[in-house]
Amino acid sequence: MNHFELRGRVLHAEGVPLTEIAEAVGTPVYVYSSATMERHARVFREALEKSGDPLIAFAVKANPNAAVLATLARAGLGADVVSGGELRRAMAAEIPAAHIVFSGVGKTEREMELACREGIYQFNLESEPEAEMLSQVAVRLGCEAPIAFRINPDVDAGTHAKISTGKSENKFGIAGNRALAAYARAAELPGLKVQGIAVHIGSQLTDLGPLERAFTTIGELIHTLRAEGHDLSVADLGGGLGVPYEPEKPPPPTPAAYSEMIARVTKDWNVRLVFEPGRVIVGNAGILLTRVIRVKESAGSGAPFVVVDAGMNDLMRPSLYDAWHEIRAVSPHGQKTHANVVGPVCETGDTFATTRAMDEAQPGDLLAFMTCGAYAATMASTYNSRPLTPEVMVKGNRFAIIRDRQSIEALIDADKMPPWFEERE
Ligand code: LLP
Repeated sequence: MNHFELRGRVLHAEGVPLTEIAEAVGTPVYVYSSATMERHARVFREALEKSGDPLIAFAVKANPNAAVLATLARAGLGADVVSGGELRRAMAAEIPAAHIVFSGVGKTEREMELACREGIYQFNLESEPEAEMLSQVAVRLGCEAPIAFRINPDVDAGTHAKISTGKSENKFGIAGNRALAAYARAAELPGLKVQGIAVHIGSQLTDLGPLERAFTTIGELIHTLRAEGHDLSVADLGGGLGVPYEPEKPPPPTPAAYSEMIARVTKDWNVRLVFEPGRVIVGNAGILLTRVIRVKESAGSGAPFVVVDAGMNDLMRPSLYDAWHEIRAVSPHGQKTHANVVGPVCETGDTFATTRAMDEAQPGDLLAFMTCGAYAATMASTYNSRPLTPEVMVKGNRFAIIRDRQSIEALIDADKMPPWFEERE
C-alpha cells in the first residue's frame, strides 16, 4: 500500500502532483510520502505487538535522511545502526539511545566508545575478537556494554546472493556450534553484560520458511544457553521482510503473517523481541522522479532507448542486483510501448529496464521509478561527476526539500590540490 496514485491524469504523492515537485526542485529527485512511512511503521508495530512489547529498530541503512528518521521516531521506532555515522544520525533525530541496537561485522574501537558513552540498548556482536575489543573499551570507559551474539544459522534465505547473510559461507555472525564457547568467553570478560541473542539472514525475503528455520535454531540455542547459566532476556530477530516490486508477482508475506509465525515460534522463549526492519517500512514510501532527455533508436532492431536524467549513480539497485523497479509515466498519454530505459552514465550497466512494457514516453516527459524509498538515495554516488540527488518529503498537500541538490561547486571544492602544484621551480 502506498500514497502514489493517479489523480485526474497526473501521478500524485499524497495531495501533491509530481509535476509540481519537478517544476520546483528539478529532476532527478527522490520523493517520499510521510503517510506511507507512518502507515507502514504503524502496521508493522501493531502486528508485532502481539508478541509483547518489542523494540522495533528501523534499519537506518535503508534510508538515513534526518526527516525520515524523525518521522519514524515519532511513529515509535528505534534504530538499528551499523556505523558511528548512523549512530550519530539516529541520535540527531532524537531517537533515544535506549532504543538503539548496533549491528555489523566491523565495529571499530572509536565506534564502540561512542556507543558505550551513549548507553545504547544492545551491541550485536559477530565474533569473539569483537567481544574482547568491546570489553576493553567498556572497562576503559567504566561502563557495562549489553551484548548479544549474532548467530549464523546456515539457512539459505532464498534471496539475491549479494543480500543473503545467513549461510555459513557468509561473513556474518558466529556458527551455532561455536555459540556455547563464545557465550562462555563473553561471560568471563569484564565490562560486558550478556543479555541476548540475534539473527538476520538476509533482505527482500519473500518466503517465511527460511526465517522460521532460523528462528527455530535461535529458540533451541536460547534453551541450551540458559541451561549453561546465561541470563538471556532479549532476542533480536533482525529484518528482511520483502516488499512487492513487481505488481504481477505474488506479494511477499504480510506483517500479520510474519507476526503470526513469530508468535508461534517464540511463544515459550520468555524474552523481549527486537526487530530491525528497513525496506518494509520505507521501500514503497519513495519514488525517484526523472525526466526523459531523449528517445534514441537502437542500433539493432531492438526497442528504442528512453534516456532519462537519472543514472545508475542515483539508483544503483538495477545495475547492482538486477533489481526490477516499476516505471510509470507521471502524465500517461494512454499509449503503451516496449522500451529500454537507460541513464546518461557511460556504462552499459546504466540500464534501468530492458524491453519493458510501459507507458509511452516522449522527450520532456516525467517518469517515476517506484519503490525507491529504501536502499536508493542512500546508495547513490557522484560517479560521472553527477551531484547527489535532492530528496523531498510530502505530507498531505505540502512538500519540503529534505536534502538539497548537491552543487557541482561543492563537488569540485571537496578536492584539494597538493602543495607542490603551487611551488614554482
Ligand atoms: N539488520 C541487519 C543486520 C541488516 O544487515 C539489514 C540489511 C537489516 C537489518 C534490514 O534489512 P531489511 O529489513 O531492509 O531487509 N542494498 C540492498 C539491501 C541490503 C540489506 C543489508 N542489510 C538492496 O538494495 O536490496
